[in-house]
Amino acid sequence: MSSPEKDFQLQAMGPECASLLAALHEVTFRGGEVWDATSFKSLLSVTGTEATIALVDNCPAGFILSRTVLDETEILTLAVHPDFCRRGIGQSLVQNVLRKGKVFLEVAVCNNPAIALYRKCGFVKAGIRRRYYRDGSDAQVLVSSDV
Ligand SMILES: CC(C)(COP(=O)(O)OP(=O)(O)OC[C@H]1O[C@@H](n2cnc3c(N)ncnc32)[C@H](O)[C@@H]1OP(=O)(O)O)[C@@H](O)C(=O)NCCC(=O)NCCS
Repeated sequence: MSSPEKDFQLQAMGPECASLLAALHEVTFRGGEVWDATSFKSLLSVTGTEATIALVDNCPAGFILSRTVLDETEILTLAVHPDFCRRGIGQSLVQNVLRKGKVFLEVAVCNNPAIALYRKCGFVKAGIRRRYYRDGSDAQVLVSSDV
C-alpha cells in the first residue's frame, strides 16, 4: 500500500499496534474522547476491524480504524498527528477505506475540519445522532455517496 507520488506510505497493522494507535489518538484528540491501548486491542480483536497507519520517513503520522460487516464499512476513528496535517494524509487514509464499498461514520457536528475532509471525499449527510458523545454533543452521520 505505497503512495509513490506522496511523501508518506500506508501500511495495514494488527493488534500489536494498539499502543501506537493509542499514543497517536491521545495527541490528536487531546482534550476530547481519547481511546487507550486496551480499547484499541479489543476493537482490533473483532473480525472485520482493520487499522491502517500512514508513515512519513517511517514515523507514524496518522491512522484510520474501520470495521466491515457484510457489505458496509464504518470508519471508527481517524487521526492525523498535528505535525503532519494538511498534506493529504487524512484524505488518503479515507480513500483507502472507500475502496471497500459503502462506508459510513459519525463525526461531531462542530468538527469542521473533519467534515470538510469527508465532504471532499464524497460523503453526504444521512442523519443526526443526538447526544452521541460523552460531552452531550451531537454527531452527524455521513455516508459515502458514490455507491
Ligand atoms: C481531520 C483530520 C483527520 C484531517 O487530516 P489531514 O491529514 O490534515 O487532512 P488532509 O490534508 O488530507 O485534508 C484533506 C481536505 O480536508 C479538508 N481539511 C482538512 N483539515 C482542514 C482544516 N483544518 N480546516 C478546513 N478544512 C480542512 C480540506 O478540504 C483538505 O483539502 P485541502 O488541503 O486541499 O484544502 C485531522 O485534522 C485530525 O486528525 N483531526 C483531529 C481528529 C479528528 O477530528 N478526526 C476525525 C474524527 S471523525
